[in-house]
Amino acid sequence: MQSLGLQTVLAYHQATKHHFRAFARSAGYLDWATQPEPFRRFEGAERITLAQPSPGDGPTYRAAMRGDHGTAEELDADFVARLFRDSLSISAWKQLGGERWALRVNPSSGNLHPTEGYLVCGPVPELTDTACVAHYAPREHSLEIRARLSDALWRELAKRLPAGAVLVGLSSILWREAWKYGERAYRYCQHDVGHALAALAIAAAGLRWRARLLPGIAAADLAQLLGLADSEGHEQEYADCLVVLDPGRDAHRPLVWADDPPAQFESITWRGEPNRLSLSHRQWPVIHEVARAVQESAVALDIIHGQASEAIPNGSSAERDQSQEDYGEDFGAGIALRSIIHRRRSAVAMDGRTRLDLPTFTHMLAGLHRIPGVRPFMVLPWEPAVHLFFFVHRVEDLEPGLYCLVRRREQLPELRQATRRDFAWQVPPGCPAELGFHLLQAGDLRDTARLLCCGQDIAADGCFSLAMVADFAGRLRRHGAGFYSHLFWECGIIGQVLYLQAEVANLQGTGIGCYFDDPVHELLGLQSDAFQSLYHFTVGGAVDDPRITTLPPYPGV
Ligand SMILES: Cc1cc2nc3c(=O)[nH]c(=O)nc-3n(C[C@H](O)[C@H](O)[C@H](O)COP(=O)(O)O)c2cc1C
Repeated sequence: MQSLGLQTVLAYHQATKHHFRAFARSAGYLDWATQPEPFRRFEGAERITLAQPSPGDGPTYRAAMRGDHGTAEELDADFVARLFRDSLSISAWKQLGGERWALRVNPSSGNLHPTEGYLVCGPVPELTDTACVAHYAPREHSLEIRARLSDALWRELAKRLPAGAVLVGLSSILWREAWKYGERAYRYCQHDVGHALAALAIAAAGLRWRARLLPGIAAADLAQLLGLADSEGHEQEYADCLVVLDPGRDAHRPLVWADDPPAQFESITWRGEPNRLSLSHRQWPVIHEVARAVQESAVALDIIHGQASEAIPNGSSAERDQSQEDYGEDFGAGIALRSIIHRRRSAVAMDGRTRLDLPTFTHMLAGLHRIPGVRPFMVLPWEPAVHLFFFVHRVEDLEPGLYCLVRRREQLPELRQATRRDFAWQVPPGCPAELGFHLLQAGDLRDTARLLCCGQDIAADGCFSLAMVADFAGRLRRHGAGFYSHLFWECGIIGQVLYLQAEVANLQGTGIGCYFDDPVHELLGLQSDAFQSLYHFTVGGAVDDPRITTLPPYPGV
């Protein structure tokens, strides 16, 4: 029998599918009068402006992603400035006519940015003498101190964490996305959390720290810790997850959160009032229903695992060495990670011509696997649940057609069983068998990809596009309704890696949240909700809009 939470989640998922005959429910137009303010502020909170980090080279993309690039940096004010600047800050302002808007290091569906970030830390040299909880304000690249924590409380928290750790919490203001996308907004907010998680893990890798999601913390405890327990109403901000960042001194200690919250948790004094984002709102009750169902169903600790095998930043494991020999040897070797992070952009149009060479493509595929020690997938403490169905359009020496990257090898038989009988499942020439990449059907899929992605040309005009298909109903039954958000996080992380890989390959990517759900399933032959497509993506040669001017992210930068 299904729990009420699972019923709510499955019903929400079904109700927010786009169909050829109708899109998921939304206002259907943009009500500019109620457009939400893109920046959350806590009025009255003490603000600490973070330094603009010096351009300094830092590790290469390849070294950072493989975690083999020297000792962890010291935690101080510059560290914190760098961490946020490389993950959640503004990356540029854009201008067209009288309009001006900010882009950020982390992407967001519709550039609406529902995700907020919070630092929870002990005393940090040159930043804070006391432990504190601070909201990151990207517009000013500053921290708003929401609470000073007692020494006793921080000691209690630190006991549960690896040596020298700090925490970053992520939350979502659903209204920001719902204003434009209505009922499908909850999905997009969770994709965005996934992108932000990856952005944080990759920024941490640049500082030679590791990042891991803290499993098992109850949503209510997390809301308490981030100062969001009283958030309510149309602009309610939901605490989503907590990331533990640490320098990797006690490498093999698994992360465990004791069930009981620290005794002093409820006595924290919060400062600052959240700014109001819109003058009025349209109600979308189902997004709050699904958010509550997810939050009320904790993802149990004993069913998610794998983090303890994370290699120390400077270490190596036999498995990782093997993977390095197999593929991806020099992808991103000559390119500074931070240059890639800050130049990441979504392509708004693709040229329909640029081709990708096969070695680069296979290196990209290799980087989409969860391999011990390799960033950023180790941030997630569960076996991969998302497989990738590629629409290959323009890759040298690879026949155009439909392909599958199986991200969890053991699931290959299940995938074969669930998809169309006439799929070939052949290893393409030039691709190592261990990659888990299979040709399903050769053919020109440009029109199909465009059609399935709500008629968007970017799905057809790139080198390839893809559908992220999750092991869905079974995993939700096993891990609980709370795992629904986690599946989107995994997709968002894959998307963030694709964005950065595209930049390394001198291409650009774009996340695609608008696709027709069941027509995708029909193409693949998927007949039940055992597997569901949760996110699409495209990579190719981008075409810029010459009318748009780019301005620096902050004065003097
Ligand atoms: C979850 C998600 C879904 C998206 N869906 C689409 C889409 O369907 N079509 C599109 O053109 N762009 C899509 N985008 C790209 C965003 O519009 C883009 O990230 C945003 O405008 C910010 O621009 P930037 O990525 O260059 O920072 C999506 C991005 C994300 C993160």
